[in-house]
This record gives sequence, C-alpha cells and structure tokens, in this order.
Amino acid sequence: MKLRHPPANTPPGFSLSAPGPFVCGLTPSPIAQENRPFMANITYIQPDGAQQTVAGEPGMTVMETAKKHLIDGIEAECGGACACATCHVYVDEAWRAAVGPPSEMEEDMLDFAFDVRPNSRLSCQIKITEALDGLIVRVPEKQF
Ligand code: FES
Repeated sequence: MKLRHPPANTPPGFSLSAPGPFVCGLTPSPIAQENRPFMANITYIQPDGAQQTVAGEPGMTVMETAKKHLIDGIEAECGGACACATCHVYVDEAWRAAVGPPSEMEEDMLDFAFDVRPNSRLSCQIKITEALDGLIVRVPEKQF
C-alpha cells in the first residue's frame, strides 16, 4: 500500500517536518515544553552529604515533595498537620529570607524536634512557590 504524505485532508499550513505540540517521539516539542507547568527545583541534602534535587510543584509543600520522591529522613507522621515535628529540616542560610520564619504554632511544634537550630523549619509548613526554585534544605541526623 502506498501512503500519501501529507494526507489529502491535511489542514492548510500543516507540515510533517515542522515541530508542533503533538509530535511523536522521545523529545517533547518546544511548544509542549512551553506549556508544561512550572516546577521548582528543591534539593535535599542528607547528613552524609548525599543530595537529591527533585521537581516540586507550586502549592505542594517541601514535605509532600520529599515523600513523593522518597527522600530519606522525612518521616511526616502526621501527614502535614503540624502535629509531629518528624518533617524537620534545616533551611540553607541563603534561602532563609525567601522561606521566611516559622509560625507560632510551628515554633511550638519545633520544640519537640531533634537538634533544633535557628534555621530549623517543619517542611510541611513550607509551601513551594516559584520564588523557592532552587531551595536547599538539609535533613537532620534523626527526627526525634
Ligand atoms: Fe507532622 Fe510536619 S508532617 S509536623
């Protein structure tokens, strides 16, 4: 069977060689890449120095992103209700201002965390925004 390229019912201006949003293959077309939702890179550093950078969706928390990507050391036993302190992280000094301080309720819960420092935060209370693209947090030796 002989195929006609392009097919007879091809819309005017359509080209098989021009990239478009529905190009098949392993590499998304430039248009598809433009339409992809923004994701913020979040880096988690373990006590031994091992680090993992993952894509965090704005609106999710740093804890939810850690759980989604199976980051070690973030327990999050209460599921993000600010009621367990097992999602404790240290915010990198360069990111402290952008992340902001803990709320009063979070500070109270941090009293139950292990080795609390001035840059301690509960990762379930840090909402990812575009401004936090590149955020670096460190996971403590243990959570309690
Ligand atoms: Fe429990 Fe953050 S998950 S305090």
